[in-house]
Amino acid sequence: MPGENTREHILVVGGSSGMGLALAGNLLASGHAVTIVGRSPERLARACDMLGHAPGLEAVAADATSEDEVERLFASIGDLHHIVSTAADVGGVYVPLSEMAVATARRVIDSKVVAPVLVAKHGAPRLAAGGSITFTSGIAAYRPAPKGSVVAAINGAIESLVYALAVELAPIRVNAVSPGWVDTPIWDAVAGEGKDAALQAMAARLPVGRIGRPVDIAQAIEAVMRNGFMSGTVVHVDGGQRLV
Ligand SMILES: NC(=O)c1ccc[n+]([C@@H]2O[C@H](COP(=O)([O-])OP(=O)(O)OC[C@H]3O[C@@H](n4cnc5c(N)ncnc54)[C@H](OP(=O)(O)O)[C@@H]3O)[C@@H](O)[C@H]2O)c1
Repeated sequence: MPGENTREHILVVGGSSGMGLALAGNLLASGHAVTIVGRSPERLARACDMLGHAPGLEAVAADATSEDEVERLFASIGDLHHIVSTAADVGGVYVPLSEMAVATARRVIDSKVVAPVLVAKHGAPRLAAGGSITFTSGIAAYRPAPKGSVVAAINGAIESLVYALAVELAPIRVNAVSPGWVDTPIWDAVAGEGKDAALQAMAARLPVGRIGRPVDIAQAIEAVMRNGFMSGTVVHVDGGQRLV
């Protein structure tokens, strides 16, 4: 069974940016092998530079919303101890419902609901005993804001998916980490030039007095991944945002 002192192989879908990149960095620093996945080869190459091309680091370009690409990914990377997905493509979806283009909604749903289904379907058979799958949901499921309907829906959906897969894929453990607002590149797509003002205003409201850092979420994902008694659970790492 994988343990803290064993060199493990962990797949991080979404590992080329934000929380996934921070997680990859932590795991590599602990001596594990990490395969990061994203669609953009350029973004993956930049991530490998940021991770110092550490021994054990691999990068694979794949679109997790494509079943063919997910199948090819798992056929090519060998056995795994844990699978994590932080992938999301939320560009253009923060608009009033009356302006919502259905193609945009479908792309976003694909990235955070269909992709996890595909990753679990093709990844579960590659997991070693004691293995786990961890997805990321998000605060929007609990504190929805105007213009955030689709994002609220996908985060709620992924949590229900986690409960169902924890039962269906047992003894593989399946969990989610639900981040609050975290300063990552996703905010360029969410708020553009309004990013800094939005994050500062939220920091002032939060019980912890600051916005999340990618490493806050990376630490929680690693804890969930390692806790052999945790399955079908959503861990909130949101600075207390659900309370304010
Ligand atoms: N940051 C926040 O404030 C916040 C708050 C609540 C929840 N969350 C959730 O936390 C998770 C991580 O967010 P983040 O802020 O770290 O995001 P991020 O910095 O934008 O990183 C997203 C990653 O997912 C990859 N990706 C997107 N679509 C993909 C696809 N179809 N196939 C494969 N990879 C794909 C991206 O690479 P490519 O674009 O190259 O594919 C990138 O590596 C997301 O699920 C997000 O919804 C974030």
